[in-house]
Amino acid sequence: MKKMILSISLLLMVSFLYSQSAKRFYPASELISVGAYYYPEHWDESVWERDLKQMAKMGFEFTHYGEFAWAQLEPEEGKYNFEWLDRAIALADKYGLKVILCTSTATPPVWLVRKYAEVLITHEDGTRMDHGARQHASFSSTFYREYSQKMIAELAKRYGNDERVIGWQLDNEPRMSIDYGPDAHERFRVWLKEKYGTIEALNKAWGNDFWSGLYNDFSQINIPLHSQWGMNIHQRLDHTRFADWETASFMDKQARTIRKHITRDQWITTNYIPMYDVRYIGQSRELDFVTYTRYMIYGEGLGVGRKGYRIGEPLRIAMANDYFRPLSEIIGVMELQPGQVNWGQINPQPLPGAVRLWNWHVFAGGSKFTCTYRFRAPLYGYEQYHYGIMDFDGVRPSPGGLEFQQFIEEINLLRKHFVGLDVPDEYRKRYTGVLFDPNNAIAMAHNPQTTEWHTENHVLKYYKALKSFGAPVDFVRDTMDISKYPVLVVPAYQQMSLELIEELTNYASNGGHLVMTVRTGHQDPYGHLWEAPYAQPIYNLIGSEIEFYDLLMPHAPDHVKMDGELHSWTSWGEILKPFTGTEAWATFEDDFYAGKPAVIWRNLGRGTVTYVGVDTHDGQLEHKVLTRVFERAGIKTESYPEGIIVEYRDSFGIAMNYSDKNYAVKIPSGSQILVGQPNIAPAEVVVWKIE
Ligand code: GLA
Repeated sequence: MKKMILSISLLLMVSFLYSQSAKRFYPASELISVGAYYYPEHWDESVWERDLKQMAKMGFEFTHYGEFAWAQLEPEEGKYNFEWLDRAIALADKYGLKVILCTSTATPPVWLVRKYAEVLITHEDGTRMDHGARQHASFSSTFYREYSQKMIAELAKRYGNDERVIGWQLDNEPRMSIDYGPDAHERFRVWLKEKYGTIEALNKAWGNDFWSGLYNDFSQINIPLHSQWGMNIHQRLDHTRFADWETASFMDKQARTIRKHITRDQWITTNYIPMYDVRYIGQSRELDFVTYTRYMIYGEGLGVGRKGYRIGEPLRIAMANDYFRPLSEIIGVMELQPGQVNWGQINPQPLPGAVRLWNWHVFAGGSKFTCTYRFRAPLYGYEQYHYGIMDFDGVRPSPGGLEFQQFIEEINLLRKHFVGLDVPDEYRKRYTGVLFDPNNAIAMAHNPQTTEWHTENHVLKYYKALKSFGAPVDFVRDTMDISKYPVLVVPAYQQMSLELIEELTNYASNGGHLVMTVRTGHQDPYGHLWEAPYAQPIYNLIGSEIEFYDLLMPHAPDHVKMDGELHSWTSWGEILKPFTGTEAWATFEDDFYAGKPAVIWRNLGRGTVTYVGVDTHDGQLEHKVLTRVFERAGIKTESYPEGIIVEYRDSFGIAMNYSDKNYAVKIPSGSQILVGQPNIAPAEVVVWKIE
């Protein structure tokens, strides 16, 4: 009897938790839902029905309205015009399309900025942004933060109970709010007071005894001029923290306004550009989940091979997936490139198949929906030339549109084969966490010490190796549970607390395989160097002292030798002095410290710790070190060539080819191929069901 009561209460608890979790919005068996942005305000109403009917006919399941429509929704102050939106929602519903609505705080109407000019962002040089573009209103304008809630509340009251509306996107690609207006300065002072409490504590944290930087009172503090030589680096870092928080808290404010008027069947999110040196991504507390936007072909990412720029960088979607997925229970991709864009340095055509490939990669990364900017290609405005799902005539689907349609058909096929959320054991055993804090990336960008250093490239060297192993990866924060990862990589984690060092020590002692790299742990959480030998607090963890660090001139690289092979470097090298029992895996080859260890490995408790004291040019050494770490840990790895990515999700294996060569995928025996075939050409995918 007692057992029965226990299991019933457990069941009730789980279903209650499930009902609270964001997972309720997207049943696992639906796999992924596909949508497309539509701008009724851009087209004559006579074509709306044709377009939405076409969208539904192509298999899209939802559309997205209004992130830039404030002027059309409130043509004059306090005079709202929602009727056109009502009609657009009704038409979408007529063709079975659900609707995502948005708050249009990225594009305030002209009457607002003319009447309340203080909402406009002031640049460092005192000039002000103006009407005519977007994202010109400041998230640090107290007036704008309050005033915008009126429009948002009106929208939420009108559509918050509307079953045709599935969710809300706040603003559009919100960014760090750098503003030098009077409000921003005052808000910065308030934020600092809340953080430090006393001016003495701030002076200590900022090291203001240096160059007579001392403040007597918070009222004397201004937002730092980041371009002024010698500006206090601690103040600059705190300003970026404040600016990130302004963005995150403005999203929360909007979410709270909407939440008052909507049913719990509607979700709230925003669409972030994946940036790894900002903190606002994942910082908002009121969102149901996070989404990202991704563009692959915009004249920069060269990809693999001469024409790799037509498919894009193989890790660009991978890293966004693995960075966003751990930030919320579910994730979505709010914008995926549908074809040529308008805003790149150069805007090439994607390789046929690339748009479908990107969709499969978003699916492989765990996303619950993928959506595209935009259904109809814009004919005027800053973004004309940008491709859509439909060609410029609005009648014929574009090549990318047909690829979205093909992806939708393939997902409908997969839905019939959905059995559960399993992945193969071997894949799970390779699960790797990458401990990452954008704070470090910003601090190193503010104070790099060498022009040869690039934080994202440094992290990518390890990430690239992990993806070539076929390892599932999560980018994790120090607030998350790291114990579930057999392997944890901690790249260039400059600012570290003693508590975190202890947590990493426990992680390894309990059986984890920890890999730490250069620049890690040599500053405290305030960004001060320890009053001790360089990075001393990590010595016991890595099993070695670090005698000194060295930075080389670009014209005179040195080498590190591992297994007889030389690897060149310039950006950062740390000369190691290992304790007894610590193995040296690689040594510096040149210079006055030739022969000294550059890479070390040790057992610690039931786990291992590896320290890579050099950042090489091409990442080959980093790849070799990780290969040996996994070998020593008895974790079997794959070795996919550059551009080949294999992931598992919901009992499906997905192999994607971003390279310029055909690749024969080893489909596990007993698996059933559902999409494609094992020998995949560039931009092709093969999808199988594991048995
Ligand atoms: C971003 C924006 C969209 C549009 C597209 C263009 O992702 O969110 O509004 O500007 O880029 O590619």
